[in-house]
Amino acid sequence: MPTKARKKSKAAAKKPAKKIVKLRAKRPAAAVAKDGLPRPSTKPWGGAGRALDGVRILDFTHVQSGPTCTQLLAYMGAEVIKVERPGGGDVTRGQLRDVKGADSLYFTMLNGSKRSITIDSKHPKGKEILDRLVQQCDVLVENFAPGALDRMGLTFEHIHKLNPRMIVASVKGFGPGPYEDCKVYENVAQCAGGAASTTGFRDGPPLVTGAQIGDTGTGLHLGLGIVAALYQRVRTGRGQRVLCAMQDGVLNLARVKLRDQQRLKHGPLTEYSQYGEGVPFGAATPRAGNDSGGGQPGWILKCKGWENDPDAYVYFITQAPVWGAICDLIGKPQWKTDPDYATPPVRLPRLRGIFDTIEQWTMTMTKFEVMEICNKHDVPVGPILSMKEIAEEKSLRSTGTVVEVDHPTRGKYLTVGNPIKLSDSPPDVRRSPLLGEHTDEILRKVLAYSDKDIAAIKSSGAITAPDKPAKAEAA
Ligand code: COA
Repeated sequence: MPTKARKKSKAAAKKPAKKIVKLRAKRPAAAVAKDGLPRPSTKPWGGAGRALDGVRILDFTHVQSGPTCTQLLAYMGAEVIKVERPGGGDVTRGQLRDVKGADSLYFTMLNGSKRSITIDSKHPKGKEILDRLVQQCDVLVENFAPGALDRMGLTFEHIHKLNPRMIVASVKGFGPGPYEDCKVYENVAQCAGGAASTTGFRDGPPLVTGAQIGDTGTGLHLGLGIVAALYQRVRTGRGQRVLCAMQDGVLNLARVKLRDQQRLKHGPLTEYSQYGEGVPFGAATPRAGNDSGGGQPGWILKCKGWENDPDAYVYFITQAPVWGAICDLIGKPQWKTDPDYATPPVRLPRLRGIFDTIEQWTMTMTKFEVMEICNKHDVPVGPILSMKEIAEEKSLRSTGTVVEVDHPTRGKYLTVGNPIKLSDSPPDVRRSPLLGEHTDEILRKVLAYSDKDIAAIKSSGAITAPDKPAKAEAA
């Protein structure tokens, strides 16, 4: 380092830390072992805090993809401060509303365990508050339309100047390229990421799936990127940008279909039922209905009560090693040695008939009875569970995958807890915040504004909707 710069940095080091910096939560000073890690904790499992304790997140997300990421990080212990526009906040608060005057389930199920502050990010005073937040946080997460963050003045360069340790994580619809400026929602991503063209039945149109692989799927990818960037920061001391494009996230989840695209060059896809039916393949990976994606043929079969219950079905896999057990169960023991049925390749052209025969058997039982019998013989089957059944499933409640929380305006509701189970980090699943519920608290405790400052901020209009007084904010 040049002498001049060293002098400068020495002088900087002598400078008393600004009040605002002192406010950061103290990290526990653990005894360090030879390998640089703290000595293994002797506290009981779950008694040594949460995985992301001490990580503070400036959550600038809205709708689904971003909020699902920050909610997961909050479950793992991160302190998440959700910044919302005064007046309305995240648009989903009012979307698909089921209880009059209360935040929708769309919002509450994606924003648990967070705190909410309202800030008009385009107001000069609002920008000042945001700059302070940038200095006090480790990660900024956003999923605005391309360019929106820059238009607020929060360019990466500006953020990095204020806080070189800041990780700036973004979800966008597309990565750099012809579509990078497009706004994107879930189903657009499912289509652009290759999922829709490979979902549905061969003789029908492309289909989107109910699982939110574009939004929540990309939120998951982003969460992984953030945790990796936090880990790298331990070595480098600096933040970085993390970008997840929804198209990329969907493609990652649909990678087996890109696998099949390349296999097409070398011949037909024999595990697709269209092969067995003698239907020629085209130039692209086709839709495969309910075919199993792996090498073991599978299909969805009716069970007892299917006439009235739309979910009385089971997914049945004719896994080769248990073919003998399947034959015995369905009353076709002769198929075990019949040269037309005995081996997987000879069964391929007969799969439709085989599944029809198995279905005659599954239709005599409920999906749960089929599962119970098949499991005894290691035959892989899965009941088609309705959301009603999932909501009522006791085991999902006891593992914390489905959690009931209480909300001041809407009452009790179910949310999805942390699907990632950490043995030493108990999940922190709490209700979602009301709009601006923690504005005062954050201004005071995180940003060290005085009562006088806060009064001035309130009268400036930076944290309240233009037509509403400050106290109406959390209503
Ligand atoms: N104060 C003041 N203005 C605010 C604000 C605040 N606290 N929060 C947001 N805004 C402004 C933004 O600055 C932006 O203004 P600008 O266009 O003048 O720059 C405006 O609100 C709208 O933001 P935008 O992100 O464009 O919202 P939208 O409703 O028009 O579009 C999406 C929604 C989801 C389509 C878009 O945000 C998007 O494509 N995001 C990336 C992909 C994504 O995550 N999609 C999945 C969503 S589930």
